[in-house]
Amino acid sequence: MSDTNAIGLHQNSASQLAEKLNVLLANYQVFYMNVRGYHWNVKGPQFFELHAKFEELYTDLLTKIDEVAERILTLGHKPVHAYSDYVAMAQIGEDKDVHDGEACVRGVLKGYQTLIELQRDLLAAASDADDEGTASQASDYIREQEKTVWMLNAYLG
Ligand SMILES: [Fe+2]
Repeated sequence: MSDTNAIGLHQNSASQLAEKLNVLLANYQVFYMNVRGYHWNVKGPQFFELHAKFEELYTDLLTKIDEVAERILTLGHKPVHAYSDYVAMAQIGEDKDVHDGEACVRGVLKGYQTLIELQRDLLAAASDADDEGTASQASDYIREQEKTVWMLNAYLG
């Protein structure tokens, strides 16, 4: 058996990266559902702007969920696809019944902080393994999400 996979990466590196990507995927899935919850449950004078903003954010998370899962497949591994596994694997916890607009935004900020930290760790591991595909994906996500964090913090004042 060759020690490289279909895209020429060492099998060991590919499986270590796939493991990190699966943990990232689990965090995205829990976070996605949290943000949907904020979209549904937020109340108060900022309802219309936050309801719309949360929809924009969870729609973007959904795109990235698919891209992360497909990166795992590209590396020759299997994306986790059961909610019970996501909840068990994710650092981000389920955030239930949050109605206050500021509390919802703080929940979003906390989720992005975890994703960004995980992606920075993934980026370092992917660079060490010469996996440019995974590294550039992680680096795009970090840059976009750091900007979102700035804007949400500006919104909070
Ligand atoms: Fe909706």
